[in-house]
Amino acid sequence: MKEKIEIAIQILKNSRSLFILTGAGVSAESGIPTFRGKDGLWKNYSATDLATPEAFRRNPELVWEWYHWRQGIILNANPNPAHYAIVELEKRYKDFLLLTQNVDNLHQRAGSKNVLELHGNIFRARCLECNKIIHHQIEQKFNDSPHPNRLPKCSCGGLLRPDVVWFGELIPEGIWQRAMEFLSSADVAIICGTSGVVWPAAGIPEIAKNYGAKTIEINLEVTPISPLVDLSLPGKAGEILPEIVKNLPAP
Ligand code: OAD
Repeated sequence: MKEKIEIAIQILKNSRSLFILTGAGVSAESGIPTFRGKDGLWKNYSATDLATPEAFRRNPELVWEWYHWRQGIILNANPNPAHYAIVELEKRYKDFLLLTQNVDNLHQRAGSKNVLELHGNIFRARCLECNKIIHHQIEQKFNDSPHPNRLPKCSCGGLLRPDVVWFGELIPEGIWQRAMEFLSSADVAIICGTSGVVWPAAGIPEIAKNYGAKTIEINLEVTPISPLVDLSLPGKAGEILPEIVKNLPAP
């Protein structure tokens, strides 16, 4: 493992442009549940009941209750060493882009600047009538108990929905294009804490390789991405990323 981390450090030392893709595994060490795996959200909750446009049309109260519950967990959590190591990496590269599938805002709270959110943000809501996007957050006092069954409304009176991407929906306009533009000239792509089964993010390792970037995966487990990358680092993001950063020259 030590040798593998050393190879990653060498790759990063020889790179000028860094792309990072993150998934729920990066926030796992903050105590935020991932989606898949033995304690994953999709083990206990049904994606089709909670994370599709049809589910929201059918039962907006239920969907909001679930998103408010998740907001509460996130508001009680803090960024972990993986998030902070990514902030440190950003300081070392003039050309840097972080693309995250996470909606928890923890990268931004840690201090990451150049972040693109592929699946939206759980602390934003969008009006189904006028399309206005607003900051929307439960009151802290509801963190420990279920949020009252109130449907959030826009100032125009329209129903608000979480500004996240649900199954069957398109990803936000322009985000994918900007990510691909950056990736096309990136020297290295780090793919960290994602199971690699949800598209289009799942296609990124292959796209990165086709563009000529070196690819490094960091994950607790072997994933469909593992055989595709140049270097697979098994372990916790909150341990591996700080170890890498420690061995890179200061910004
Ligand atoms: P998943 O829950 O599918 O995968 C999390 C990955 O993180 C797994 O491969 C774990 O092995 C890994 N992991 C867990 N803890 C880790 C740690 N401490 N260090 C490193 N790796 C760790 O989450 P995503 O891949 O992000 O979309 O899921 C992608 C999308 O599917 C989500 O954005 C969400 C979900 O359904 C929507 O809701 C639309």
